[in-house]
Amino acid sequence: MSEDRRLDRLSSMLRRRGIVLPAFEIYGGVSGLIDYGPVGASIRRRVVEIWIDHWLSQGDIVEIDSPTITPEEVLVASGHVGEFNDLMTECKSCNSAFRADHIVGDDSETMDKKEIDKILANGVICPSCSKSEWTPSSPMNLMFSTRLGAMSSGRTAYMRPETAQGMFMLFPSLYRHFRQKLPFGAIQTGKGYRNEISPRQGMVRLREFNMAELEYFIDPQNPPMYSGGSEVVTLIPDPQSEYSGEKKISFAEALDKNIIRHPTVAWFLSRTWDFLIKVGINSDKIRFRQHANNEMAHYASDCWDCEIYGEYGWIECVGIANRTCHDLESHEKSSKTSTLRAWRNFEEPKVEEKEKLFPNGSVIGPMLRADAREVASIIEEMEKLPEKIPFDLKLSDGRTITITADMVERRLETITVNGEWFTPHVIEPAFGIDRIIWHILDHAYEESQKEGEPYTYLRLAKGVSNVDCIVLPLFDKDGMGDLAKNYAQQINSIPNIRSEIDFSKSIGRRYARADEIGIPWAITVDHTSIEDGSVTIRRRDDQVQIRAEIGDLIGHLRNKTMDSLF
Ligand code: GLY
Repeated sequence: MSEDRRLDRLSSMLRRRGIVLPAFEIYGGVSGLIDYGPVGASIRRRVVEIWIDHWLSQGDIVEIDSPTITPEEVLVASGHVGEFNDLMTECKSCNSAFRADHIVGDDSETMDKKEIDKILANGVICPSCSKSEWTPSSPMNLMFSTRLGAMSSGRTAYMRPETAQGMFMLFPSLYRHFRQKLPFGAIQTGKGYRNEISPRQGMVRLREFNMAELEYFIDPQNPPMYSGGSEVVTLIPDPQSEYSGEKKISFAEALDKNIIRHPTVAWFLSRTWDFLIKVGINSDKIRFRQHANNEMAHYASDCWDCEIYGEYGWIECVGIANRTCHDLESHEKSSKTSTLRAWRNFEEPKVEEKEKLFPNGSVIGPMLRADAREVASIIEEMEKLPEKIPFDLKLSDGRTITITADMVERRLETITVNGEWFTPHVIEPAFGIDRIIWHILDHAYEESQKEGEPYTYLRLAKGVSNVDCIVLPLFDKDGMGDLAKNYAQQINSIPNIRSEIDFSKSIGRRYARADEIGIPWAITVDHTSIEDGSVTIRRRDDQVQIRAEIGDLIGHLRNKTMDSLF
């Protein structure tokens, strides 16, 4: 079996077995869009559920769900309308469009337009027509735009490029939910959309993709401190930093040495590692690479990519970014609200002299009559004093009243200040679920020979396969089919355990299919089962078979102790 075609063989198996397929294939397919088929959709859901459980079990993180259609002003404030661009170039001969940094070479994500244009002018060959004449590169915004309402009078909106903005919009509700106490986090899983210029690489570069993001809100003066993480991992610090070069080091030590600069970032790097190991990514194919300054997204002040190695080389699958107060602050400014902030108490209350305005009741009472009470209370609560008097004051019903010097008195007041409002900072681990699933499949895919024929397996981690076991009646006669259905139902009544029945073809072919899609246990119902309620259990990973009572099997599936039967 030649190594160079492993990618094709894996892709073909994924398609044949209904795991991942090109979308809209009967119409020729659309690059950057895929289907998860009858096996793959369950794998995807289970990976997402493991991800959700991984974060919710932390105890200070909740789940939210927000719209995928996002009004323009949100994405103007976040910076996506202005800055979420890739440089594009077109072949002057065949008009094919390409992402400019990709077409000029591998190490080009950090190059600027000038450098890219210089390389383009030096004879880069067009992959479509082999000519080499290019338009100067120009930025293309990656968002899909749409309209809310009628085309003429509606409002511009975009399909969300990230789920994160949903968490920022809900900050006031999250702050209330967590009883006004930081730190806390919110997760969201769902679709994101990016109009990639020339998507290639199967599941790696998609135009509609599955995202899973956590926004963790912290007080930057009191960030949660890191604990744990003693496993040795590969870190590649920012090449422009004093720590450049690959390091084999634990997260704890890297934080200690300031290679990782922020304790909460270190914590989430470590938790990302734990998740990837849990879903079956090979530990020696994971590395964390810190962005150089000119590579960082517009919202980030520090970012580590978690890259996974597979058939396409090293691919970014998770980004762990310190977004600081960028988003909450821009949304407050842009929406003219003041609800995206948190309160911190001072360790010691501060005593301050503060200039205040006091209403002069003997003037405003007779002058304003019914409005006097409201005017007095607005004046008493003014945090920011007007620059000059007279000034205009707005009442709750929209009327304006002019306040003159005789109506107020300006004097110093001694007050005790217990704390202050501030904009929380955000640490964001953002996961590309499709890329992770691709690497789960890539790492699990094993090719061998059986009786002179190619034989393939998916050694998926427990809980990731589409079902946990497959029930196989040896024949669909003499009551074996009905008994198998009964056993499958019993198995399916165990929480979080799923089984399917397969009646097709020979038992050997059915075992082979189950191995190929990664089902860890095959349960065969035969003549003996009818007599004594025992079944054969076959383990995918070594094909060892044992016999057990159905009651024992159910108990071990429930307790996740199947291996102890062998
Ligand atoms: N929210 C992270 C990203 O858009 O990649």
